[in-house]
Amino acid sequence: MKASVLLVVLLACVVSGARAADRTVDAAAHPPPPMGWSSWNAFGCNIDARSIRRTADALLASGLRDAGYVYLNIDDCWQAARRDREGQLQADPARFPDGIRSLADYAHARGLKLGLYASSGSRTCANIWNEYPGRLGSLGHEALDARTFARGGVDYLKYDWCSADEDGVDAEAAFTRMHLLLGAVGRPIFYSIHREPQLPIDTWRPRIANAWRTTADIRPNWQTILRNLDQQVGLEAFSSPGHWNDPDMLEVGNGALGIEENRAHFSLWALLNAPLILGNDLTALSDAVRRIVSNRDVIAVDQDWAGTQGHKLRDDGETEVWGKPMSDGSFAVVLLDRAEQPVRVGLRAAEIGFSPDACLSVKNLWTGAEGLYRGEYADRVPAHGVSMIRVWSRPPRGNRAAQACK
Ligand code: GLA
Repeated sequence: MKASVLLVVLLACVVSGARAADRTVDAAAHPPPPMGWSSWNAFGCNIDARSIRRTADALLASGLRDAGYVYLNIDDCWQAARRDREGQLQADPARFPDGIRSLADYAHARGLKLGLYASSGSRTCANIWNEYPGRLGSLGHEALDARTFARGGVDYLKYDWCSADEDGVDAEAAFTRMHLLLGAVGRPIFYSIHREPQLPIDTWRPRIANAWRTTADIRPNWQTILRNLDQQVGLEAFSSPGHWNDPDMLEVGNGALGIEENRAHFSLWALLNAPLILGNDLTALSDAVRRIVSNRDVIAVDQDWAGTQGHKLRDDGETEVWGKPMSDGSFAVVLLDRAEQPVRVGLRAAEIGFSPDACLSVKNLWTGAEGLYRGEYADRVPAHGVSMIRVWSRPPRGNRAAQACK
């Protein structure tokens, strides 16, 4: 081999080796949307160390940890009403007598990660809305608080915005500051921010945060779930691996949401690559709700990335079609019925980029049913519900019905 050819070959090897190495680093540095549980939706300020530990146990006993739900997030109201003599935030000694670190240790020993809540102004939201005692925001204490979180073994920080406007805080500067501080504490901390107003999304949010809220607080009713969904239109431009739009924590299993509404809520959040942060009482988990949130086919849609999060493909008023390309070349699709009556909703192959007469191999992700359809698919969608499917343009190998494309 001539020296020059050898050089080119060597260079190519080095470059492709570097690319392969980059990919490895990328996979570690840009994880899929986080999955876990947060105390807020079910418990608000009624939390203590015992209920958090029982939830950790429930994550394991229910199989949810093994389905991917590893974050155990303590939301607002964990703090004592005053900082300590050194100015550090401390856990309320009455409800968290052993402090945050012992809960982090408890979580870590069980393959879980611990999350904590803080806020960028002088007050947290619970101080404003729930009369929680103490002006416990991080304003003016950011560096110390970042160190406190790291020392406490925290793996996830939810950083809120309440009172920051009145305090004259500059949002970009404040959220960037905490991002930089967390980056310097020596342990990876998932950084979830809530800037108000949530929309429009400032271009700096995806640069500095792992997730950012895109809506006001969710509530366990169908109207709010649709409101939050409607606000996601167009936001697909902002997300990428490690940087997710957050239409707020899940309400699956809460309030008066029915089984179809719960399935719809979970399906749509998965299609949007949303953080899947459960918000229900896991110590009283019904079998029906457990089955919904541990549906591995639906979770796989949330965790997959093929260049874009799910987005609205068609809007027919009371019915909508949402879709998302999957990295194996298939498409995940949610057929949504917003209204009070069941209705038939169709999908044409061309709408998901397949040839108009393609033989569609369809798997219903809720019933498990599989079938082959020529050029289009339709399903009866329940009221306030969805049909969620995954569509391949060719029958999977070994499918005996391969010739039977209707
Ligand atoms: C805000 C947030 C909620 C919750 C509360 C806690 O309202 O949006 O998700 O964290 O604060 O006070």
